[in-house]
Amino acid sequence: MGDKRIIYMDHSATTYVRREVLEAMTPYHAEHFGNPSSIYGIAHESKKVVDAARDQVAKALGAEPDEIYFTSGGSESDNWAIKGIAFANRGRGNHIITTKIEHHAVLHTCQYLENEGFTVTYLPVDQYGLVNPADLEKAITDRTILVSVMYANNEIGTIEPIAELGAIARSHKIPFHTDAVQAIGNVPIDVKAQNIDLLSLSAHKFYGPKGVGVLYIRKGMKIHNLIHGGGQERRRRAGTENLAGIVGIGKAIALATEDIEGHNRKIRALRDRLLKGIREKIPHTHLNGHPEKRLPGNINISFEFIEGESMLLWLDDEGICASTGSACTSGSLEPSHVLLATGLPVEISHGSLRLTLGNVNTDADVDFVLEVLPKVVARLREMSPLYKGKGVCNVQ
Ligand SMILES: Cc1ncc(COP(=O)(O)O)c(C=O)c1O
Repeated sequence: MGDKRIIYMDHSATTYVRREVLEAMTPYHAEHFGNPSSIYGIAHESKKVVDAARDQVAKALGAEPDEIYFTSGGSESDNWAIKGIAFANRGRGNHIITTKIEHHAVLHTCQYLENEGFTVTYLPVDQYGLVNPADLEKAITDRTILVSVMYANNEIGTIEPIAELGAIARSHKIPFHTDAVQAIGNVPIDVKAQNIDLLSLSAHKFYGPKGVGVLYIRKGMKIHNLIHGGGQERRRRAGTENLAGIVGIGKAIALATEDIEGHNRKIRALRDRLLKGIREKIPHTHLNGHPEKRLPGNINISFEFIEGESMLLWLDDEGICASTGSACTSGSLEPSHVLLATGLPVEISHGSLRLTLGNVNTDADVDFVLEVLPKVVARLREMSPLYKGKGVCNVQ
């Protein structure tokens, strides 16, 4: 990155790999490289560490180790949960319930299933991005075979009432899946207490490596396999194990869940100071997401009269890494489906900025963003004919 100062505020897109995680993984690339399925001595070490990582993930979720399956990441886990349950339970019904604000790994999987003859209800959310449990209750029919609601939203950070939604699905004996990719490490998760039957995770969102994830599948679930081939993962997910990655996700989840409150306190304090400063220094803003029920590091804010994409380029010029929506949708000029679902007008949603803080951020980072961002917004507004019409070009 050269000498330029980089302020990374895009932790919901991905995180760096923590030093302790990297150190735990390193021996499993070249030194202990045995295939866990082989029978000689060096393979036993590999099998042992895969089992140990499974125990670490199970402990973090309140699950049993044999309910944990390693995958290639959040997208695969979401695909497996949704397609696997849908195809295995086709005899019982063809109706799936999800929400309008899911990640595309869920939404596009549901759209694929609609083409395969399933029907999908996309629950609305309120202005803060919250799903109303009464809407779930109303949407359930005797043909419903799956409910999938994300734990925390990747764009606006809203945290859904998962235990309550899970209880409704459970009372109708319908499998309940949650995409907890953004939630883990930020909220305490207990799959048993929260009535969760399937749960997706991805290591690169909590200071672990990219390309490894988890699907928790409660014992007794009727689910088809997604990846066919060898007998790995107790015959449910084929493919030679991503040994170093699995060691990495085990270590990362143990670290991410050991002091959630402490981690949140530090990040929330920085986030709140940044948000307060932005609102004080920049007029015509709109905070997206719930004021309190939101991820501790998340700010999603719309600046009227400007384009989010241009703002990102100017911020990048100053070394600030941020995002307009989720990483997967930035680069496209489509308005965010999440912001639209909250009722935000299209023009305002175009001027949205997502800043997601993590454990590298400091008070100095917050000060720097508070110095740069108001100038960037003011400069862009000066170029905006719409803003000129408002006659308030005096922002500094
Ligand atoms: C909520 C959510 N689900 C799923 C994914 C996909 O995870 P992965 O990149 O590991 O496939 C992401 C990634 O941005 C996400 O934020």
